[in-house]
Amino acid sequence: MRTGIDRISFYTTRYCLDLKDLAAARGADWKKYSVGIGQEIMGIPPPDEDIVTMAASAAKPIIDEVGVDDIDLVLFATESSIDQSKSAGLFVHGLLNLPSRCRVVELKQACYSGTIALRMAAMMVAASPSSKALVICSDIARYTLGSPGEPTQGCGAVAMLVTTSPALLSLDPEYGVHAEDVMDFWRPNYREEAFVDGKYSTRIYLNSATESWKQYTALTGRTLSDFARCCYHIPFTNMASKAHDRLLKDSGVIEDRKAIIEAQVGESLSYNRITGNTYTASLYEGLACLFDTTQEPLDDKRLGFFSYGSGSVGEFFSGVVTPGYRSSLYSARHKHLLESRIAVDIQQYEDIFNLSIPSDGWDYSFTEYQTGSFRLAGMQAHKRIYEMVR
Ligand code: CAA
Repeated sequence: MRTGIDRISFYTTRYCLDLKDLAAARGADWKKYSVGIGQEIMGIPPPDEDIVTMAASAAKPIIDEVGVDDIDLVLFATESSIDQSKSAGLFVHGLLNLPSRCRVVELKQACYSGTIALRMAAMMVAASPSSKALVICSDIARYTLGSPGEPTQGCGAVAMLVTTSPALLSLDPEYGVHAEDVMDFWRPNYREEAFVDGKYSTRIYLNSATESWKQYTALTGRTLSDFARCCYHIPFTNMASKAHDRLLKDSGVIEDRKAIIEAQVGESLSYNRITGNTYTASLYEGLACLFDTTQEPLDDKRLGFFSYGSGSVGEFFSGVVTPGYRSSLYSARHKHLLESRIAVDIQQYEDIFNLSIPSDGWDYSFTEYQTGSFRLAGMQAHKRIYEMVR
């Protein structure tokens, strides 16, 4: 039975910081950001947006189009969790009026959990073919101010509808996985910013890609030339290019690697370059970007995917694009979203960064910024209060 992605919707916040301004403020060469790591702009979450509002705003176009009736599973993938107990997905369940017989769970394994959510959702709908599942990946990437990770920060969410008649992509059953217990990137419960051993994390990412790919290619006999395009987890865009370069080298490709990387990976990177890292969402933001921006029709073409979550789990998998997929995309909405953002300056960025959710149990109302369809209105007795904006 075919299972896979029927709809994919991306959301990022209405505010952003030009990394030229960050480079000037940190005394860094702008080219280090734009050329060295491959980032130009980062998304900024205003105080009344969080992983819940971004997730609900990402999912809303899908719900508006297909309704809620057959959705009986929400898997919420994040590493920016807002509660140790309640799933962020339940707030989304409420905001989107999902049916009471819809299961809701939050999943965590750094940036990888969106991928296991997709795989689990596919298995659940295969067991009950008339049902649909919503996989939502939503994250805010935060590093310490002034740290090497700072220019890779970002925010965003991707919602995917998973069905047994997927209008966009059917998942192949095969995969290669590499898991190992390492400390390349982590965020203890008492911290709002991640710790990262930056250079080490890039080596672990590349090794994970190599090992996952080795398994996948041994299992399927497929080579990299069997993929029309490849999408990667994108902590910063050059990481995806480096990973593809590594797999090409592993496969014995010596000549023209730069051109091959541009042809196979380049089109999936432009959204991430201007949103920054969206952790769990970044691989699927890359897929949405590829679908939205490629000139070449991808109907019936096979795509390769590498998902990576620090700590670490990596997975190489693949899928085949459904003929006629273009009529089921939200490309115009994504374009408008990215083109209509408001630039903040360094002072505004740092002020927003330094705000944190009050923890004293008093009632608070949050200043209204521009948001998507939902906002975090305030806090009452340690409870987050959300509201619909339009
Ligand atoms: N012009 C052009 N390029 C320049 C330059 C300039 N003026 N100055 C520097 N560069 C290049 C460097 O040569 C280097 O290129 P290579 O990687 O090809 O060697 C690149 O810019 C980065 O510069 P540095 O080597 O000086 O590295 P840095 O100190 O800025 O740190 C980083 C880079 C480690 C990636 C840092 O941004 C970081 O810690 N990021 C967060 C961690 C991360 O994203 N890790 C990725 C793997 S883990 C993962 O994927 C999970 C996740 O989502 C976090």
